[in-house]
Amino acid sequence: MNSNLFISKNNSALSKLGRLLDSEAYKDAKYFIVVDENTYNCCLPMLVGKVDALERAEFFEVPVGEEAKSLEIASQLWQTLIDCGADRDSVIINLGGGCVCDLGGFVASGFMRGIRYINVPTTLISMADAAIGGKTAVNLENVKNPVGFFSMPQAVCIVPGFLSTLPDMEWLAGLFEVIKTLLLSDSVLFNEMISVVSSPDCFDEKKIWPFVSHCAEFKSNVVMADPREQSIRKILNFGHTLGHGIESFCLEEGKPLPHGVCIGLGLIGELYLSVKKLNLSRKVLDDYCRIVRGMIEIKSLSLHDTESVMKYIRRDKKNRDGLILCSLIKDVGVPIIDVVVNENEVRDALLQLGKL
Ligand SMILES: NC(=O)c1ccc[n+]([C@@H]2O[C@H](COP(=O)([O-])OP(=O)(O)OC[C@H]3O[C@@H](n4cnc5c(N)ncnc54)[C@H](O)[C@@H]3O)[C@@H](O)[C@H]2O)c1
Ligand SMILES: [Zn+2]
Repeated sequence: MNSNLFISKNNSALSKLGRLLDSEAYKDAKYFIVVDENTYNCCLPMLVGKVDALERAEFFEVPVGEEAKSLEIASQLWQTLIDCGADRDSVIINLGGGCVCDLGGFVASGFMRGIRYINVPTTLISMADAAIGGKTAVNLENVKNPVGFFSMPQAVCIVPGFLSTLPDMEWLAGLFEVIKTLLLSDSVLFNEMISVVSSPDCFDEKKIWPFVSHCAEFKSNVVMADPREQSIRKILNFGHTLGHGIESFCLEEGKPLPHGVCIGLGLIGELYLSVKKLNLSRKVLDDYCRIVRGMIEIKSLSLHDTESVMKYIRRDKKNRDGLILCSLIKDVGVPIIDVVVNENEVRDALLQLGKL
């Protein structure tokens, strides 16, 4: 397991973070904690209460959600770092969900050609996925993540204590990213998850924790094997070719949906493509659609909407030479990267959303 991943089913990983910050390597560090309004209120007291070195940290509050992931906010943070006397020994601590971690990592990676940063994720999505792996980014207009760095955090500290205040919608969004990783990695856990999400237990952090820690460790191992996404790391994009297209489209329409929910919808289309192109058993698609219908209302896309989503899918970073490339699965736990999919197949998959 990656030694920079601190994860515990109680909150003891925070003590481990405290010991790291008390170590020689951090003796000259000034700390800057990035929060949004919600993590300032719900999570900052626990972090500074449990990690002594952070008692005197400066904190920066950024807008909630995707609005934080902009060059404008990044530039404000760089200016504030300079105003506060930050130097190359300074350390940024990102306390929040994927938006705070993506932005704070981006700011750290660009400041003075790169200073250290640590992620303390507070949403299910960021614990299972976004905080791990060193992809940092901001958005441009309605396009998600086109500007960013690969830059590894010094540590990622994952504890369940922050989840108690997470709103239901964010909890649901996180469950979809967890399910995505289970589809990629483990049929036994995927089947267990199907029964958990079919019951009220899916909002119980104790019931969910074994799945979250599996996902965090799985992602960490994949990233260690392929840090710059040349090969195996591409599997993590499962659900994201269609999902990002849907996410950008909803943003453009002025009706943004949480990233995880868009991935949940994208997975319907990409499981459908997996059945068509790789002979995935139809049962997996049916099981998945059944649980999704129990979690959210699935909206159909009209032909006109589909064309708007296609516009974004054509621009996907994973495409090469004008070909749309998807990461799909042949079976649960058997991912296949770089599957070429033509535009008609993608349209057909998008049109399945409301039908299945
Ligand atoms: N870098 C990566 O590898 C990677 C991977 C997956 C997703 N992402 C990015 O992550 C983002 C989505 O992540 P997210 O959903 O965690 O975003 P987020 O940071 O916007 O958090 C979601 C919401 O939950 C609130 N919140 C966070 N923690 C809370 C807590 N403990 N209690 C109460 N409220 C809390 C936030 O204020 C926000 O309103 C997207 O921008 C996506 O592109 C990045
Ligand atoms: Zn994602």
